[in-house]
Amino acid sequence: MKTITSKQTNKKRKQSKIDDFLNRIVCGNAVEIMEQIPDGTVDLIITSPPYNLKNSTGNGMKDGRGGKWANAALQKGYSHHNDCMPHDEYVRWQRKCLTEMMRLIPENGAIFYNHKWRVQGGLLQDRQDILQGFPVRQVIIWRRKGGFNFNPGYFVPTYEVIYLIAKSGFKLSPKANGYGDVWEFTQEMNNEHPAAFPINLIDRIISSTNAEIILDPFMGSGTTALSAINFGRNYIGIDISPEYCKMAEGRIQRHIAQQRLI
Ligand SMILES: C[S@@+](CC[C@H](N)C(=O)[O-])C[C@H]1O[C@@H](n2cnc3c(N)ncnc32)[C@H](O)[C@@H]1O
Repeated sequence: MKTITSKQTNKKRKQSKIDDFLNRIVCGNAVEIMEQIPDGTVDLIITSPPYNLKNSTGNGMKDGRGGKWANAALQKGYSHHNDCMPHDEYVRWQRKCLTEMMRLIPENGAIFYNHKWRVQGGLLQDRQDILQGFPVRQVIIWRRKGGFNFNPGYFVPTYEVIYLIAKSGFKLSPKANGYGDVWEFTQEMNNEHPAAFPINLIDRIISSTNAEIILDPFMGSGTTALSAINFGRNYIGIDISPEYCKMAEGRIQRHIAQQRLI
């Protein structure tokens, strides 16, 4: 991948306007693309980064050689990311991503950052190391319906977490706080992407805000864009995989065509 130096980035950022990114899927590295977007121009970020699932002490996936996730779609990682970084490197990378995201949102902006807690080496890995110092306002539990394919030694895990990281002026849309902080949505099962969001989950988030411009720097199959379209908002999607970017573009086109028919 072509590396962009910080000097080039600052120059590019000065030259670029947010309009250049609106309603586009950009194929590239999340940090490098975000570095080109001007400060404070994205109202809301919703994203699910790779969880580094393949770097596991054994109770998660282990190179597809058994463990709870042995037949899960993600056992091979993503098409252009193997999801198996050394832990410290992974934490540094995610903190860099969050730092860029914080630069992009204005004083009333927010980030919904989806992740997963897991037990590693007998201790809870709750992602504090990634989030330390960022303004986490609340943790939402996303309760999935059921699970799949499990080692009989484990109860089927059925939840993920969504960190609401918000700047001080962020407010929910009227009545949205009534949803509470445990949300139940069935996981997506009808998508070629190995880890797609269910669209209802993203509809819940977007409709709970007044955001006009919504970014997903790990856009995968484009679910955040589809949901933004549902509510007449603008999206920006980034993904490193040309395959998934193509998938997202196809889904967006079909979604817009379906909406025209309604
Ligand atoms: C959990 S998936 C996101 C799925 C998405 N929420 C959906 O609904 O389809 C994480 C995505 O991050 C992408 N990815 C991995 N490394 C990346 C990087 N450095 N920059 C941008 N995208 C990356 C992967 O290709 C994968 O599609």
